[in-house]
Amino acid sequence: MEVMDLQQWHQEAKKRLHKIGQEHLLRFWDELNDIQKTDLLCQIDRLELERIPEWVDNYVHGEGTIEIPQDFEPAPYYPAQPPLERKEEYERAHIAGEKLLREGKVAGFVVAGGQGTRLGFDGPKGNFPISPIKKKTLFQIFAEGLLAARNRFQAEIPWYIMTSPLNNEETIELFEKNEYYGLPREDVLIFQQGTNPNFAFDGRIFLSGKHTIAKSPDGHGGSLKALYTSGAVSDMRDRGIEQISYWQVDNPLIHVMDPLFIGLHAQAESGMSSKTLKKSGPLEKVGNFCMVDGRITVIEYSDLPDEQAYRKKPDGSLVFELGSIAIHMISVAFVEKLNRHGFALPIHKAVKKIPYLDEEGNVIEPDKPSGVKLETFVFDALPMSKKSIILETIRSQEFAPVKNATGTDSAEVTHHMMIDRAADWLQRAGITVPRTKDGKPDCVIEIAPSFALYPDDVKSKIDQVPPILPGNWVYLA
Ligand code: UTP
Repeated sequence: MEVMDLQQWHQEAKKRLHKIGQEHLLRFWDELNDIQKTDLLCQIDRLELERIPEWVDNYVHGEGTIEIPQDFEPAPYYPAQPPLERKEEYERAHIAGEKLLREGKVAGFVVAGGQGTRLGFDGPKGNFPISPIKKKTLFQIFAEGLLAARNRFQAEIPWYIMTSPLNNEETIELFEKNEYYGLPREDVLIFQQGTNPNFAFDGRIFLSGKHTIAKSPDGHGGSLKALYTSGAVSDMRDRGIEQISYWQVDNPLIHVMDPLFIGLHAQAESGMSSKTLKKSGPLEKVGNFCMVDGRITVIEYSDLPDEQAYRKKPDGSLVFELGSIAIHMISVAFVEKLNRHGFALPIHKAVKKIPYLDEEGNVIEPDKPSGVKLETFVFDALPMSKKSIILETIRSQEFAPVKNATGTDSAEVTHHMMIDRAADWLQRAGITVPRTKDGKPDCVIEIAPSFALYPDDVKSKIDQVPPILPGNWVYLA
């Protein structure tokens, strides 16, 4: 009876796959045992088969359907330094943000489901050692930041971590092994995002094994769905959480909890808000914050026409000067609303080196791009929020992503930026930092979040800082 069922299931799947030109997924059927057969059929059932032909047409054969709006303007924003007339507004927001933190209404949320292929690091990227002296990992730095915020605001600040099926187990093992980096275990919640199948350039879905469909995480945009389907949002409701502080796993300079940002976002009753920084040049590879039909929208660098990218204001600065850096505040109500009403983010195509099984069943590890991955981006949800604010931050203070093994956005650059920021914080408190002729710190400094979460924290601790001489290594905790 059971064998019969499996056969029927197989026939059914075969028919459905045949209709959309994907029956090769069953190519190795006769070589599989019953467990493997069942596993493969389950994977096929989980594919959104009815959407596959559209995906193949639009994103594998085509370039996608993301349309650039006819009319768009630069988005309004809160400058990093408030102009005199807005000082009070900033102060009020700061107080409101602190209040939400003290009331335990804010959670941390890091998206850590990416594959980190550019960095080429073995294991979850959160385990990458990055701090200049203690070589703390990214996860440890975030955890210490949250611990310091918990102490400061005397509140529970739960931390949600999104992984993908490719790194979930390893991530959990890391947290277990490191005893949750000092955080209460019940306040660290790890959940998985969804996946999309990988396609060959001819539109056929890749197999990665004889009974395994090749899949990859559905992009950081998948977080908005996964927060809901995983039960994370309902857990947040149980805990009285109203706001989510969102960041990426690759940025050790992040202020995990920023009262000003939290306050500005909450006071504006925004569903989703963003931090921004001034782009380093017209073509910097970051999204551009624009205003489209009264909604804040990110237009990708690759989609912004050059004549717009180079446009200047009378003072010489760029018209489209605000870059998107993947730091957001998101309200719990916004995530719920999106999911209750059914939403879909636009799909982005990424041509990548994707390992696959060839027709003979050999695993091929390509050394050049072999196919297409489909992802969604979290910032595409911004226009779904009626209200949304943008707060400017300063690159050297809050944005140093570890993306590449060498060059731009590499660990080496981030390492130096961490030292530069620490030196800056000390200097602002009146401490002398030795510098080389070109102005770089002539020492290595690491500030632990327990010592200072924000630059002003250093001022009350200057007596704990030893004199710093050229070549010194100074760790402050
Ligand atoms: P990136 O765009 O840098 O992608 O992710 P990546 O997968 O980590 O790295 P490459 O492109 O393979 O080199 C930005 C952030 O979004 C998360 C990443 O973990 C990182 O924090 N992300 C990305 C997810 O959580 N899921 C995804 O599907 C993609």
